[in-house]
Amino acid sequence: MANQRVLTGITTSGTPHLGNYAGAIRPAIAASRQTGVESFYFLADYHALIKVQDPARVQHSTLEIAASWLACGLDPDKVWFYRQSDIPEIPELTWLLTCVTGKGLLNRAHAYKAAVDKNTAEGNDADAGITAGLFMYPVLMAADILLFGAHKVPVGRDQVQHIEMARDFGARFNHLYGQAYFTLPEAAIEESVATLPGLDGRKMSKSYDNTIALFADAATLKKQIMGLLTDSKAPGEPKDTEGSALFQLYQAFATPAQTAAMRSAFAEGIAWGDAKQQLFAVIDAEIAPMRERYNALMADPARIESILQAGAVKARAIATPLLRELRQAVGLRNLGSVSPTQMDAAVEKAALPVFKQYREKDGCFHFKLVAADGRELLVSIGHASPHEAGQIVARLKQEGGASLHHIAGAGLHLGEILVGRLAADAALEQVINALAAFAEEGV
Ligand code: TRP
Repeated sequence: MANQRVLTGITTSGTPHLGNYAGAIRPAIAASRQTGVESFYFLADYHALIKVQDPARVQHSTLEIAASWLACGLDPDKVWFYRQSDIPEIPELTWLLTCVTGKGLLNRAHAYKAAVDKNTAEGNDADAGITAGLFMYPVLMAADILLFGAHKVPVGRDQVQHIEMARDFGARFNHLYGQAYFTLPEAAIEESVATLPGLDGRKMSKSYDNTIALFADAATLKKQIMGLLTDSKAPGEPKDTEGSALFQLYQAFATPAQTAAMRSAFAEGIAWGDAKQQLFAVIDAEIAPMRERYNALMADPARIESILQAGAVKARAIATPLLRELRQAVGLRNLGSVSPTQMDAAVEKAALPVFKQYREKDGCFHFKLVAADGRELLVSIGHASPHEAGQIVARLKQEGGASLHHIAGAGLHLGEILVGRLAADAALEQVINALAAFAEEGV
């Protein structure tokens, strides 16, 4: 079986904390070492621009995140490690996908909807302060994924909808242009992965301001851990492991044997100060060697830059040929590559049947279905308004010919509704075939 491609994007809008490490970086790097897997990790700096408009912060976060992943053991020779904005094929594909994406689908994207709901609740204009960047976010993310043919995208629950949208856009493009250009990705929801509690016991998250920096120096790490919220049980009093942020953090960094020992120590009433010392010791034991590599990398940003440049070359070896194919697929083509007569033939072949609407002398509104070759197939009854005629046309386009039947001497019916009559020499089958072309195009 071909290798499984796994792809992860990291938005460059913050500084990695311990929660990112245990929840994303550590498991992702472990997964990248498995055989039969091709791993793609990229710095989603175009995504960062949606949230952050401070250039220095975007740059610094990109540097910190790149240095963190490398320091934690990501091997750029083994994986594809690149920066989104170094791959011009990503925004290029974003546009191709934008043109097959229903705006209504994007209206329903969680992040956009949440922003609209908030505005509405506050009595503001629905779109107040919302950029088109936020609105288009799912399309950009789909381009990230589809460009590299990812099979699996490990994400948290909040991102599952985006993966479904990427599938949707990819399937729609494949269908429209008649070939399986895109692999349809699946979300891999990591249930077993640790979500760490933060300093106040709630989930560690930048938005709660309760994070422990991943690569703060040892003294700062210790100080933060000593400030971890606990209950007020005195030394000697037995303590609950259940619901204890300290215990959960300990478990995420300790061996099973160390965890078992800490569980007994809790039952025996270990003092919080001592437990925190031990927590600091296990975390620092794991982080210290990486911290050293991190500091060395941060001191040499040019080295990180050249790793990313090499990563871009490697990634574009996949992206450039695919985009060439996609441009061809949608008709962005070299005009010298086809003769005018061939082109006419191709246009004719792709021609669709049309509905022509018109008004008769009696003032009624009619429509005709005309085949691609110009032959009339169906002539409608008269309608009082163009809107009424248009509604029947819309139904015929949408439903195709499946529910259309011919009653000899009484004309063509859509369910109970009389549509009109077959044109002279036309057969019901021709009408049904013509309608199928509309359903297929989705117009
Ligand atoms: N939107 C993701 C997040 O906020 C980051 C991201 C961008 C991403 N592009 C991606 C994740 C593609 C997976 C695949 O976490």
